[in-house]
Amino acid sequence: MLEITNLAKTYHTRFGASSVHALTDISFGVEDGEYVAIMGESGSGKSTLLNLIAALDKPTSGSINLNGTELATIPEAKSAKFRREHLGFVFQDFNLLDTFNVQDNIVLPLVLSKTPVAEMAKRVHELTPKLGLDDKLQKFPYELSGGQQQRVAAARALITDPELLLADEPTGALDSRTADELLKLFAQLNAEGQTILMVTHSAVAASHAQRVLFIRDGRIFHQLYRGDLSQDEMLVKISDTMTAMLAKQDDTGAKAVD
Ligand SMILES: Nc1ncnc2c1ncn2[C@@H]1O[C@H](COP(=O)(O)OP(=O)(O)O)[C@@H](O)[C@H]1O
Ligand SMILES: [Mg+2]
Repeated sequence: MLEITNLAKTYHTRFGASSVHALTDISFGVEDGEYVAIMGESGSGKSTLLNLIAALDKPTSGSINLNGTELATIPEAKSAKFRREHLGFVFQDFNLLDTFNVQDNIVLPLVLSKTPVAEMAKRVHELTPKLGLDDKLQKFPYELSGGQQQRVAAARALITDPELLLADEPTGALDSRTADELLKLFAQLNAEGQTILMVTHSAVAASHAQRVLFIRDGRIFHQLYRGDLSQDEMLVKISDTMTAMLAKQDDTGAKAVD
């Protein structure tokens, strides 16, 4: 469903004094129904990658194809609509509107796409019990815990039934117990067919995914498939790979660990 080919992103400082190669020659695909985690240290290019896939920014070179659409061909004026119709986002800091109650936060993407009110109500009714939010609809974000706020953000991302759910450090602002609840929710959504691409620097978070891509200095370093491994076994493999990735290396390029 998602095909990324030879993707590169270079940031130039103003006046071109220096440049940062945030991503270099990234290629990978995501199948329909997969749950893929992207891991890497802070500054390795994870958010850059997610922002390019979200069509929030343009690559320097390379291609991103989502279910047959080349993102680069979408005119600027249509990119917000494209995002709303095809993608859902969950960010580290929830990004909820403080003056909107839970229900209004959740239906915001539907309001923007002029969905009939009856259809909005139906979707809220179907989705929110699954996220444990059906008794919170009239509350405001400041009345909720961090975990509840992140579930509202997840509901807002899912209300449009997106082809791909993108999450950037979704557990980054949560305590470990609340993070675990959110990760269980993601796993459940995936079991029901939701395709998920989650960026994280947490090995525990990544161990919930079916596949983990590791990026280092803007390049793909390695990937692990969970297969039949338990979550704990996957966690050990992820930790080993992170250790190998962080180990001092003579060369600066990507290096496989196996
Ligand atoms: N808008 C920007 N302008 C210039 N440099 C940037 C910008 N965004 C990110 N970078 C740089 O690109 C690299 C990758 O950043 P980022 O994708 O945010 O990493 P991560 O999400 O893995 O922490 C870093 O060196 C960062 O400083
Ligand atoms: Mg980031």
